[in-house]
Amino acid sequence: MATRKIREMGDPVLEKKCKEVKEITPRVQELIDDMFDTLYEANGVGLAAPQVGILKRIVVIDTTGEDPILMINPRIVEMSGEQTGYEGCLSVPGKSGQVTRANYVKAVAYDGNMEPFEVEGTELLARAIQHELDHLDGHLYVEKVEGPLQDVEDTEEEA
Ligand code: NI
Repeated sequence: MATRKIREMGDPVLEKKCKEVKEITPRVQELIDDMFDTLYEANGVGLAAPQVGILKRIVVIDTTGEDPILMINPRIVEMSGEQTGYEGCLSVPGKSGQVTRANYVKAVAYDGNMEPFEVEGTELLARAIQHELDHLDGHLYVEKVEGPLQDVEDTEEEA
């Protein structure tokens, strides 16, 4: 198990656009493994590669602790509805803010074998997909927060 340091807001790596992954090299595989380890160690819902300082289009999400989803070069192809709720981010520790997002998304991505697949989600999964994909284009949820950022003691839904 190897965890990586999570970059925090203010680090320029979080503001850059990530590059597409072309193949799963041993280095990319190690990054993916480390991203899951880092996600679970931090009790997060999702983590994007730039959050560990790597500008690649890779996202890991697990909304229950038992449903790991790896998305390489993900793209949202459908979204509908609306949900407003509190959101946090492992790169913005101890904070939370209200964000309105689509309530349903369908995304396409590549898996760990570079095979294409689809993910559909509502509610928390839909929120996590939108939040993590924003990271790949250098955006943090704080740009979308309605009202003030709040301090939270329990940060169980950080992504
Ligand atoms: Ni985040």
